[in-house]
Amino acid sequence: MLTIKGLAPSQGAQSRTPKVAAAEPFAWLAEAHKDQLALCDSLEAIADTLPDIDREICAYAARMLGPLLRELHAGEERLVFACLERRHGDDPDLAAMLEELKYEHCEDECYAEELAEMLARLGAADASANAETAGYMLRGFFTNVRRHIAFEQECLRGILARHEGEQPDTLPA
Ligand SMILES: [Fe+2]
Repeated sequence: MLTIKGLAPSQGAQSRTPKVAAAEPFAWLAEAHKDQLALCDSLEAIADTLPDIDREICAYAARMLGPLLRELHAGEERLVFACLERRHGDDPDLAAMLEELKYEHCEDECYAEELAEMLARLGAADASANAETAGYMLRGFFTNVRRHIAFEQECLRGILARHEGEQPDTLPA
């Protein structure tokens, strides 16, 4: 089966069993972030090859992008954010921070739907798919996702560092 980095269905955070993920939410998050950064690298590689793209890879990315991002975001909210709420629900900054991160998840998922539609058209050699527009959309998407991950890591490190006994370095650098 054709796979590209970050879109493989059995790697990183996606391969961890729910039990393991629930027991080690921050280790799971580190893997989830790695998966998303690998996805960004793959989308950047597609953008760099425009207009001479590999149609099979575009079609594959179109199918996987939305479900993958939704699954990882749902895991972040169900495992990691919920864990922070249980442990540090009294932190005055936590609720607003998690709300902002969830809002960014929603925005990126909406963007992913539009991008998936464009990738499907590229994959189908649809003449209406403009290479310049596709490049702009791809770069906008992976720039947003990379920035979100950096912001999420900074926020979580800040919360964990304020509470004794936590290990902020369990998140990737
Ligand atoms: Fe996130």
